[in-house]
Amino acid sequence: MSFDNIFDASYERVQSARVNGLEFFDAFYRRFLLSSQEVRMLFRNTDMAVQKRMLKKSFFSLVSFYASGAIDDVLRKTAYLHSAEQLNIKPHLYDLWLECLIDTVSDFDPEFEDDVELAWRLILSPGITYMKFGYDHF
Ligand code: HEM
Repeated sequence: MSFDNIFDASYERVQSARVNGLEFFDAFYRRFLLSSQEVRMLFRNTDMAVQKRMLKKSFFSLVSFYASGAIDDVLRKTAYLHSAEQLNIKPHLYDLWLECLIDTVSDFDPEFEDDVELAWRLILSPGITYMKFGYDHF
């Protein structure tokens, strides 16, 4: 199976799973907020229910970027919003974001194994690289 197919199958499994009563993206944000004081500060005034919906939408753009190599409007706007000029999200925070996401996948996907982890990392890498690059390129 290709990494695309491995990712798609894992994404479906994590979306239909509940762990301790939580949905996947709720559990991800919980973990991300617990991981660092810097992250908690950045989200101190944020409605996390709204945030979760926005991430779900932009997640699609991250994945499409891997598939098509094209940056859509959602991804471009999201990168600008996170850049030094706007929210000022430092590039190192994306590494933490990805580690928290992978740990959440490992909790939610009963079929989690090395190829599943690698599929998530490969598919999200171009989008994350673009977001980091955007930090000081707008
Ligand atoms: C590839 C990774 C990421 C994606 C796809 C993403 C996506 C988004 C989206 C779609 C929004 C809402 C945009 C809007 O309101 O129009 C948002 C807001 C935000 N993101 Fe991210 N984000 C990512 C990484 C991060 C990281 C690493 C941080 C660091 C803590 C972060 C902090 C924030 C903050 C503080 C907001 C504003 C929340 C508010 O409106 O109160 N994001 N993000």
